[in-house]
Amino acid sequence: MPQIIVLPHVELCPEGAVFEAGSGTSICDALLQNGINIEHACEKSCACTTCHVVVREGFNSLEDAEETEEDLLDKAWGLEPNSRLSCQAIVADSDLTVEIPKYTINHAKEGH
Ligand code: FES
Repeated sequence: MPQIIVLPHVELCPEGAVFEAGSGTSICDALLQNGINIEHACEKSCACTTCHVVVREGFNSLEDAEETEEDLLDKAWGLEPNSRLSCQAIVADSDLTVEIPKYTINHAKEGH
C-alpha cells in the first residue's frame, strides 16, 4: 500500500505522521482515519476549501483535479502549484508527502 508522509502541523499533528493508505481512498479520509483531524467543512463534497493540502511529493501520481476543484482552490489560503483539495485527491499507487497549510479560509476570516 502507498505510504503517506504528513509533514508536521502545529495543531493537527505536531510530530508529523507516516501511515499507509489504500489506493482509492481520498487523502482527506486517509488523514481522518489516522487521527489527523483535518477540517472538512463541506463533508467532502468539494464545496469548501478547508481540506486543502499541498502535495510535496507524488503529486503527479494523482488524477488531475476537476474544474470545480480548481475553481475552489483559487480561494484557498496559501495556494501553491501542488495544492489539492484532499477530499477530491484520491491516493493512487505512489507514496505521497502531504503538507497541511497552517491556516484554512475559516481561520483567515477570523483574522488570525
Ligand atoms: S471538505 Fe470541503 S472541499 Fe474538501
